[in-house]
Amino acid sequence: MDTIILGTGGLGRAAAAAFTARGDAVRLIGRPASGDHDPAALAGAQVIVEATRGHAVRGNVEAGLAAGCRRFVIGTTDWAADRDAVEQALVAAGATAVVASNFSTGVVLFGRLVEAATRLYGPVPEFDPYLVEWHRRTKTDRPSGTARDLANRILANHPRKTRISDGTGGQPDPDELEVLAVRAGANPGAHLVGFDAPGETLEIKLSSRDRSAYAAGILASADWLLREPRAPGIHAFDPAVVDELLAAATKPGEPGR
Ligand SMILES: NC(=O)c1ccc[n+]([C@@H]2O[C@H](COP(=O)([O-])OP(=O)(O)OC[C@H]3O[C@@H](n4cnc5c(N)ncnc54)[C@H](OP(=O)(O)O)[C@@H]3O)[C@@H](O)[C@H]2O)c1
Repeated sequence: MDTIILGTGGLGRAAAAAFTARGDAVRLIGRPASGDHDPAALAGAQVIVEATRGHAVRGNVEAGLAAGCRRFVIGTTDWAADRDAVEQALVAAGATAVVASNFSTGVVLFGRLVEAATRLYGPVPEFDPYLVEWHRRTKTDRPSGTARDLANRILANHPRKTRISDGTGGQPDPDELEVLAVRAGANPGAHLVGFDAPGETLEIKLSSRDRSAYAAGILASADWLLREPRAPGIHAFDPAVVDELLAAATKPGEPGR
């Protein structure tokens, strides 16, 4: 397939490497000097992958639509303010986008595991939940978007925790979920959820080694868009693509793309 990837940062380059590795034709396009992409430069793509900066998403999707593309995979974060406008533009054009703030299937499944663990351990008063995440020193947001999603899943399934600790120190409020963000070195990202009781501790942890897991999810989403017509508008990677991947994985002999 012919894919255009917008954004030449770490995510765009990782996605390009993954598409190229399986023999797809890829065009990796960076920030245009004029500020806006000329639709003519985006013509011919079956799928456009958005991996830029939040403020650029709306304009880039509109340029892709003007170029005739009807399938988008949006990995960029921090464009919530433009989400309605992007969805309206997609629907008006009969186009579809798969969206995720984290395209790692492992992270999606970790979220489901955390929910299940919270439902099991949460009702037992002795087990006190906590969350720790590690990222490179230069990451600006804390807690990470993934940590916030995990924390919200714990809160939604825990009988006593009602809010995230604000990290101001002092004696933790028993209603608060303790969330700690460590920023040091070059860590590509790790999330740990624990439940601590007087005599024992449960800890589950997912560590990223590189961006290849995001790239795999982006590829799977592009394939999902191409496999059959999808309803116009925005679809979430979890559950739309992930559930289809899991279903295909349980049917030996059926290709996942
Ligand atoms: N969904 C996921 O799984 C996932 C995983 C990792 C990261 N992300 C998100 O994906 C985005 C990209 O991540 P990253 O680590 O690659 O960031 P990055 O290193 O900052 O790269 C973003 C790149 O996009 C370029 N850019 C800006 N406006 C553009 C435009 N209109 N068209 C094309 N390129 C443009 C930037 O160029 P200049 O430097 O010249 O401005 C920069 O090279 C971020 O929002 C990040 O939070 C999502």
